[in-house]
Amino acid sequence: LIGEAEAFTGNSLEEVEAFRIKFLGKKGLFNQYFSEFKNIPNEQKKAFGQTMNQLKTTVQDKVDTLKASLETTEEEGVYGDLTRPGDAIQLGSRHPISVVKNQIIEIFSRIGFDVSEGPEIEDDWHNFTALNLPEYHPARDMQDTFFIQTNPDVLLRTHTSSVQVRYMEANKPPIRTISPGRVFRNEAISARSHCFFHQVEGLYIDKDVSFADLKQTLQHFTTEMFGKSKIRLRPSYFPFTEPSAEVDVYWGLETETDYRMTKGTGWLEIMGCGMVDPNVLENCGIDSKEYSGFAFGMGIDRIALLLHQISDIRLLSENDLRFLNQFKSAL
Ligand code: PHE
Repeated sequence: LIGEAEAFTGNSLEEVEAFRIKFLGKKGLFNQYFSEFKNIPNEQKKAFGQTMNQLKTTVQDKVDTLKASLETTEEEGVYGDLTRPGDAIQLGSRHPISVVKNQIIEIFSRIGFDVSEGPEIEDDWHNFTALNLPEYHPARDMQDTFFIQTNPDVLLRTHTSSVQVRYMEANKPPIRTISPGRVFRNEAISARSHCFFHQVEGLYIDKDVSFADLKQTLQHFTTEMFGKSKIRLRPSYFPFTEPSAEVDVYWGLETETDYRMTKGTGWLEIMGCGMVDPNVLENCGIDSKEYSGFAFGMGIDRIALLLHQISDIRLLSENDLRFLNQFKSAL
């Protein structure tokens, strides 16, 4: 019997179960033989007991091994070999542009701004005309444009101010929105400028919005973004804002206590801003006698370069893993 049990090979769980019942079931061979125990002469009882035990373990071991291997083959059909060690997953890292963009979005969402997006391919109205840049306006040359088609013009947006136009056309004040996105300018590519980059522009429109509100908002932003920081506003010109200003942040040695600004280089321009020109409000269907507002726009790439001490803007779009892997610990 032990020999028979050892030789058994079952091809399915049912066969193995039948084998088990045949030997170890209530009316199985084991019990049948064991019921003879009382009739065995005393001097043979020990040997008989040992043999019976051996039979029981042999059958039980056989059942266990066969069952285990049949169960895994059945599972394997569905899941593959579950006992194989897993393959390590290659974790990526967030792109520095995304890291900085998310930080900016978070700062402005905490003070009530929502996030708006629009198309990268724009028409003339949303990129220029509605923003107080009529045809032949010389300021159109401020932003070298990639045209996809002329008459009627279809172009790659040169700023995300176009999204603000769309937002004003679709929403009534009060408006508080930031528009992150990729923009394009027909410029020579160098370590400092690229033909595409990323912006976050902001727009706030309500009753009685003043220049003081703008300045306070920007100071709040730079403090959250760069730590305790000094800003200054220099008068500037944009067709869609009046008055307009350029915002500089002080990247100096006296702020060295803040790890984000250790490499001091003095005043650095980080964005443009101003009070939305009443013409722009009217173009977008907002009554400029009732409402006023401010707008600002900054380049994400430029800020990412500053914060992470990156010396060449081209690194941001080359997808070199040796560069990107350095941001594994960034959020
Ligand atoms: N749209 C401007 C640019 O791309 C930035 C800006 C936005 C300036 C809003 C003022 C107000 O350069």
